[in-house]
Amino acid sequence: MTILVTGGAGFIGSNFVLDWLVQSDEKVINLDALTYAGNLENLVSLDGDARHFFVKGDIGDFDLLAKLLAEHQPRAVVNFAAESHVDRSIHGPEDFIQTNIVGTFRLLEAVRAFYGQLEETAKNEFRLLHVSTDEVYGSLAADAPAFTETHQYEPNSPYSASKAASDHLVRAYHHTYSLPVLTTNCSNNYGPYHFPEKLIPLVIHNALAGKPLPIYGDGQQIRDWLYVKDHCSAIRRVLEAGCLGETYNVGGWNEKPNLEVVHTLCAILDELSPRADGQLYKEQITYVTDRPGHDRRYAIDATKIERELGWKPAETFETGIRKTVQWYLDNQAWVANVTSGAYREWLGKQYGETK
Ligand code: NAD
Ligand code: TYD
Repeated sequence: MTILVTGGAGFIGSNFVLDWLVQSDEKVINLDALTYAGNLENLVSLDGDARHFFVKGDIGDFDLLAKLLAEHQPRAVVNFAAESHVDRSIHGPEDFIQTNIVGTFRLLEAVRAFYGQLEETAKNEFRLLHVSTDEVYGSLAADAPAFTETHQYEPNSPYSASKAASDHLVRAYHHTYSLPVLTTNCSNNYGPYHFPEKLIPLVIHNALAGKPLPIYGDGQQIRDWLYVKDHCSAIRRVLEAGCLGETYNVGGWNEKPNLEVVHTLCAILDELSPRADGQLYKEQITYVTDRPGHDRRYAIDATKIERELGWKPAETFETGIRKTVQWYLDNQAWVANVTSGAYREWLGKQYGETK
């Protein structure tokens, strides 16, 4: 048996592929365009492993997808491929529209054509799992209950709007063409192989480099954090037992204000890798101009996936964040490689010396 994973060289996708091949012998076809966010270095431990077949390519390339599907006859497709960074979507939304909306549409078209010619047994087994975000629901008031699957879509950034559009297309392909789809909407992930443009890896990276730790606005915005391996186990569970056409919210009940997250990271770094000058890492915290349209709070109600599918996260925020800091300390060469070249150039243009 085989599965096709898109975006499997990115943060969550590479963790998923690595975990998948520990849990099962099922072959993985990994289609990834290798944008700045995709790094084959994440998958170096699979070199020479015949169960992993990497293809560099775009989810918007219908012909390539049709060829891969026909050749490998996967029993499932898991779609991680996306532009994923809110700040980038604010500075340049075009790529988000192309990959997240048009790309998902082309993927759906290719899967629809493939699914249409499957035999009955293969049809019954086949699934397309679309990986999405809680950001499609918009911003929550401080005292509002966490997002359930029936919360209305109110995306506020070009990123979340493009993900919302892709979710709607996936939903429409189920209702219109009976495509066997599943959608997961997950909260903020953190863990190994997280590109250091997002809050947690950026803060670890900058702290160790003696650079400012940029806090947008007052730092009291709330995110709900989930260790990436727990997101991967949720996706495996939904693929295994989810009801077709349903959406599942995935989260770890870990709401934290950004400033608290940054203080926690500083405290762990003080313990594991103290500053040479004897100062504390929190001295590097710097308040910067807020993100335009910054969502104040996200929070996931994960009751449905817990109750219906029996999924639970293995890590608490405290255990997961400590593992994450240790991973970055142990993998400084990875950080140096992915933050060189084009990435630095882009960051320099957007933020000058702030980052
Ligand atoms: P990422 O940016 O780290 O990785 C995205 C991957 O997709 C990269 O390997 C990139 O090369 C690839 N890619 C981009 N455009 C492509 C294209 N046109 N064709 C093929 N491949 C392409 O993102 P991530 O954080 O790993 O997120 C993966 C998915 O999970 C995304 O769909 C994202 O919306 C969703 N998600 C992310 C989070 C989070 O906290 N990071 C939370 C919930 C949901
Ligand atoms: P981020 O990791 O970009 O994820 P998202 O925007 O998808 O939630 O940001 C997490 C939170 O941290 C968000 O409220 C923005 C904030 N943030 C900062 O305060 N400083 C930073 O340098 C970054 C990248 C994010």
